[in-house]
Amino acid sequence: MRLLQNLLSPASPGAGGLTVLLLLLDLITPAATVKHENFKTCSQSGFCRRNRAFADDAIAAGDKWSSPYEVKEDTIALQNGVLTAEILKTVPGLQEKVVLPLTIKFHKTGAVRVTIDELKRQKGEIELKGQSKARKERYHETERWALVPDWDIRDEKVVYDNRKGQITLKFGPESKYKAIVTANPFSVKFERDGETHIVFNDRGLMNVEHWRPQPPAPEEGKEKSPEDLDGGWDETFGGNTDTKPRGPEAIALDITFPGYEHVYGIPSHATSLSLKTTKGGDGAYSEPYRLYNADVFEYIVDSPMTLYGSIPFMQAHRKGSSVGVLWLNAAETWVDVVKEKPKKILPIGGKSEDTKTHWISESGLLDVWVFLGPDPATLYTSYGALTGYTKMPPSFAIAYHQCRWNYVSQEDVKDVNKKFDKHDIPYDVIWLDIEYTDGKRYFTFDPLTFPDPMSMMKNADKTERKVVLIIDPHIKNTENYDIVDELKSKDLAVKDKDGNIYEGWCWPGSSHWVDAFNPAAFEWWNSLFTFDRFKGTTKNTFIWNDMNEPSVFNGPETTMPKDNIHFDNWEHRDVHNLNGMTFMNATHQALEARQDSKGRTQRSFVLTRAFFAGAQRLGAMWTGDNEAKWEHLQAAFPMLLSQGVAGFPFSGADVGGFFGNPSKELLTRWYQSGIWYPFFRAHAHIDAKRREPYIAGDPYTRIIREAVRLRYALLPAWYTAFHRASQDGMPILRPNFVVHPDDEEGFALDDQAYLGDTGILVKPVVSEGVETVDIHLGDNEVYYDYWTYKIYQGKGLKNYPAPLDQMPVLMRGGHIIPRRDRHRRSSGLMKYDPFTLVVVLNDKGNAEGHLYHDDGESFDYQKGHYIHRKFTFDSATKSLSSTDLHQDPPTAEAYNKVVKSLLVEKILIVGVSKAIKASVLAKSKNKATILEDGKYRKASMVYTPAQDNTFGDTLLIRNPKVRIANDWTVYLDKKDAGGAVKDEL
Ligand code: GLC
Repeated sequence: MRLLQNLLSPASPGAGGLTVLLLLLDLITPAATVKHENFKTCSQSGFCRRNRAFADDAIAAGDKWSSPYEVKEDTIALQNGVLTAEILKTVPGLQEKVVLPLTIKFHKTGAVRVTIDELKRQKGEIELKGQSKARKERYHETERWALVPDWDIRDEKVVYDNRKGQITLKFGPESKYKAIVTANPFSVKFERDGETHIVFNDRGLMNVEHWRPQPPAPEEGKEKSPEDLDGGWDETFGGNTDTKPRGPEAIALDITFPGYEHVYGIPSHATSLSLKTTKGGDGAYSEPYRLYNADVFEYIVDSPMTLYGSIPFMQAHRKGSSVGVLWLNAAETWVDVVKEKPKKILPIGGKSEDTKTHWISESGLLDVWVFLGPDPATLYTSYGALTGYTKMPPSFAIAYHQCRWNYVSQEDVKDVNKKFDKHDIPYDVIWLDIEYTDGKRYFTFDPLTFPDPMSMMKNADKTERKVVLIIDPHIKNTENYDIVDELKSKDLAVKDKDGNIYEGWCWPGSSHWVDAFNPAAFEWWNSLFTFDRFKGTTKNTFIWNDMNEPSVFNGPETTMPKDNIHFDNWEHRDVHNLNGMTFMNATHQALEARQDSKGRTQRSFVLTRAFFAGAQRLGAMWTGDNEAKWEHLQAAFPMLLSQGVAGFPFSGADVGGFFGNPSKELLTRWYQSGIWYPFFRAHAHIDAKRREPYIAGDPYTRIIREAVRLRYALLPAWYTAFHRASQDGMPILRPNFVVHPDDEEGFALDDQAYLGDTGILVKPVVSEGVETVDIHLGDNEVYYDYWTYKIYQGKGLKNYPAPLDQMPVLMRGGHIIPRRDRHRRSSGLMKYDPFTLVVVLNDKGNAEGHLYHDDGESFDYQKGHYIHRKFTFDSATKSLSSTDLHQDPPTAEAYNKVVKSLLVEKILIVGVSKAIKASVLAKSKNKATILEDGKYRKASMVYTPAQDNTFGDTLLIRNPKVRIANDWTVYLDKKDAGGAVKDEL
């Protein structure tokens, strides 16, 4: 009801009020499913339709087809790791050839960038239609936002050879990579170790729509000029007309991965991890994957339809090799994927199919990065070296978040907080959706329902909890609102095609949009978040940026018109997929700049809905408005795995499902699954019934409590996995193919995953009424059930009992898992808690693990104030030792003093070998020998034999009290501890 009052309030101006009200009602009232008719298919998107037709014609022509692009050989030059040349495009009926400047850049990591521009547009020698103020060039600033500032580190040792129309370039570490450019027709083949892995323009589908004046309409009875491209000059969809001032300007390229049967990535789509083909046939899609950030609420699953965010990074994988491409273009993009039997002899390890892709973007440069692997880890590291790695989040951000649209008042927030404590369910963050504001004016609190936000923040802080507030990019167009006044007076809003401030409709009714492409908007945005300015916020307030695709209720495809104008006169068309990320970036920087009274800053936390490559540097994402249905629970895992592959692992899905009301079983299963999402947040629509985990009652509440507690116990392992991602881009939640890159049966698996390097393997139950699941083991290592230590061994499927109160979790032998087992109300209250180390021995009796730890909130870790340990269990000496992985131990000293009191309270060894058993029982009289700081001491051990040999034995070392930041060794057998020990003990 309040919603309606807000919408109908006199502050909502504009003639289209009624239509917009209907639009809003449409959004508020859950429909059965996504409104397909609101979003284009390829055939409704002129440039996609044209390029698909071009491809179909070329393929149908077979050997008769020849790509009209050729490299002008006398223009080729190589200097400082950059090859430049001109590509000439032959246009039938045109004397003059179109000149397309080509550059190939070689990056120090071995990545290569191929960029194709268009000379006429580059020089501004084109005419715009109408009165447009848009820039004439092809957009070339995607790199400014998507890549790290120091991305341009070149490999200048490129070896070049030009022979008979073939230019060979050797590059990368030990010159093991090769790019072979064929001049006519233009194509590029990328080789590693003598094998071809990626080919550009293999099928001749490259297409650069060159500039041309709009041909006059054909006289009656005459055919239209071939230069008059269908849908090239204006296009109407859903009642909105896009004026396309620069005419047709699409770019397209086919990219072939010979011998690769699986491709992954290009999120976000509600589809499988291993991408299905898109040109029809059994189980295939008939539409290409679309990348055009949009508010596709109630999206359908198993679809290539576009969603809220886009990362145009694709990985191709086969046994023995992983390679990838980044299509660095932020305009609307479509990607076709087909698989075909190769005509040629297969490379070693190559499967029976080639994957052939076709990338089509509406405007901008043709700009592609190639990564030649050879394995997933190397691929992610080199991709991250360009687009950045996940920034270390504050530690609360990886704990549990409680959200709904909306907690309606301060009292409500207090009550929820109290009930979580009463029911002993830990949580770290309570979220406030749009209703906390004063009439959808961001940076304000509703004076009636949130009269004293400061006390609310303080109350949360008592248990180290945080509050996240939503701030969207649409700024209410109303009287007496300082934020909109400043937006206008400082001229920081997005403009329409005529250069007027753009007005559209979103939650507040009539709104304007912050143009975060403008550096001045960043500065202004920063100023809005200071504690002085944003009254009612404190150190424990963080931000959620929603609707930043941007969502515009009355705009084409629920977003902004493409001919809108951003800073520096770039058209919205060119930057659409970057838009959300620039806004998130502004918020991220604003939060990092906030200073308390002592001038201290802290890490930011921003959740975004829209994103692009590089957004992993700024915060977390979630998969938008899903539904409380089993198929949406199923869809979440593959979607999050795909985020990890594409370098943005800090991802989650609304636990419980946003729209609708989950059954108690679905809610419980969703929690059991959600505890494995890197970003773990429950959320619900305003119309959904209350469903905080204590509401369901036992056994559901008890089971959910257990699940959430497991997340909390494993927070040290999660934090360590985030740290790894922040260093080298390894996904946090890892699909089977990443952990077992040679296990071909597991290449398409996306319903089970590993947590970082811990060896923890989970397969959440995502179907109703299920009592068992089949877990695939990717190798022959021993695996133990997390709960009972039952042994699972042998590559392939293993049946695992999974009644509602049992989560399928296994531990792979050979790993050491750091945990904190004491139950607290929030992760902040676990700060001083001791650790538990779970040592899961492999078949050879060894294990290894890591722990990363820091203060979880400040930037001191960048000054070396962190702990990074390696734990090793060695079967030969039957000992567990902790060694330092810190890059600069002296800088850690100060921090080590701070964490001096942090101890290990338990060491649990799972899968005790016969040798250990013998010595533990016979010689050590149940005492372990500890060596720390040059001194020996003892700790008691409890050996628990398994009920039979289908379970692992365990050995518990009680209270070893070793310091987590220290070097130490715990010997199970005194004899192994060295000569001195006898005297000292
Ligand atoms: C959008 C978001 C959803 C949020 C709602 C109201 O639908 O995706 O999470 O609750 O807007 O702000």
